[in-house]
Amino acid sequence: MLDKNLKSFPKDFLWGASTSAYQVEGANLSYGKGPSCQDVKELPEGTASLDICADHYHRYEEDIALMAEMGFKTYRFSIAWTRLLPEGTGKVNQEGIDHYNKVIDTCLKYHIEPLVTMFHFDMPDALDQRGSWSNRESVDWFVNFAKVMFENFGDRVKYWLTINEQNMLTLVGPLIGTLRIPEGTTNILKETYQQNHHMLLAQAKAMVMLHEMYPESKIGPAPNISLVYPASCKPEDQLAAQEYNAIRNWFYLDMAVYGVYNNLVWRYLEEHDATPDILEGDMDIMKAAHPDFIGFNYYSTATVQASAPSDDVDPGADQQTARGEAGYYKGYNNPNLMKTEFGWEIDPLGFRATMREMYSRYRLPMIVTENGLGAYDTLTEDGKIHDNYRIAYLKTHIEQLKLAVSDGVEMMGYCPWSAIDLVSTHEGIRKRYGFIYVDTTDEKTGTLNRYRKDSFYWYKKVIKTNGEDLD
Ligand code: BG6
Repeated sequence: MLDKNLKSFPKDFLWGASTSAYQVEGANLSYGKGPSCQDVKELPEGTASLDICADHYHRYEEDIALMAEMGFKTYRFSIAWTRLLPEGTGKVNQEGIDHYNKVIDTCLKYHIEPLVTMFHFDMPDALDQRGSWSNRESVDWFVNFAKVMFENFGDRVKYWLTINEQNMLTLVGPLIGTLRIPEGTTNILKETYQQNHHMLLAQAKAMVMLHEMYPESKIGPAPNISLVYPASCKPEDQLAAQEYNAIRNWFYLDMAVYGVYNNLVWRYLEEHDATPDILEGDMDIMKAAHPDFIGFNYYSTATVQASAPSDDVDPGADQQTARGEAGYYKGYNNPNLMKTEFGWEIDPLGFRATMREMYSRYRLPMIVTENGLGAYDTLTEDGKIHDNYRIAYLKTHIEQLKLAVSDGVEMMGYCPWSAIDLVSTHEGIRKRYGFIYVDTTDEKTGTLNRYRKDSFYWYKKVIKTNGEDLD
């Protein structure tokens, strides 16, 4: 491919990075906050509990000052539902409102645009007790939560993300501690997609409400998108890749953008007698919602091959492991890709391919809401973290991002995971992603002091040159 005339990143490109409340804040049951599903789940063995995390709740000022030092234009963080509404509905906890007001105002003080995720894997436990997303009332619960956020923060927050990785909540919910299947459920697939239907309705209503309250503000979904490759040029493998692309990726964006159920997913659900119950008017609600942009998390591509109905397939270990579904597709180790220390494939070119494909399907501006390398970092005696492996990962991805911009893909910004070290979904804080090192361990030993990693200085230069100097 000829890449002679490369475009630059737009002048107002939103360079930043991301976190989520339950993974970074700590103080998980303090200051009036109620428990979420994350606070009551059984912790994966040897991983830190969520009472301290990076202690961002207490140290947000220091952390945002460090982000400002890197030159951030935006900071993507999530608002914990149970900090605002400890029971999920009902009484508002003013301390929670005050806290996020301070976080938002601190960002604005440094001219950092807050990019707020409304829901990042943290359903209130009180609502889980009432049936969670399987209860149709969950749509109203979420809309009420959205209203509280928009009323309190909408004057200053211009960019909103609805639900983080709804596709992962649906496909690997138990792994990240979210999916609640009511006792006695016989058709788990139907139940899962019914919950998914309620989330889609909740998202659609929240998008419409924001546009009514703040016509200038912008809102979009934030799924985890991994373009799916066929394992070979066998037509059967191509069909398998299409199935998995639909189930893993396009289903969520087809609904968010066009308000329609993806036909391949619908057929798959029909085959399993698992189509969700759709009430009159539901599809009008879906169609009425229009995102202004697409946020998406990208870590790697996935590769699949065809599968026979009798196959014994691996259901997939986590967010990034290609899944299998007997009779449809099965995960395949792509021999062309290296893996991280934690077994996730690394595919920067696939990042470009994913952006191209998304843009040709949806034609909306896009922002990368997560991308990054989970690795073991070492703090040296003189307070340094030489994470050249992270720089290499990010550099190769930003190169591809730039090529995608040259391809004509409208990219608004780039927010790698994560701004600061935090607790991983299921592998503890030893799996680090941040530009800022936090001196703590899964045993919660350490000073919690912050250290600038080598990637901190590198990213600062990237932002300063608007992505021109990646060395
Ligand atoms: C995404 C999530 O799936 O990946 C984040 O939105 C998560 O919450 C990130 O932390 C990295 O995954 P993990 O499992 O390494 O924490």
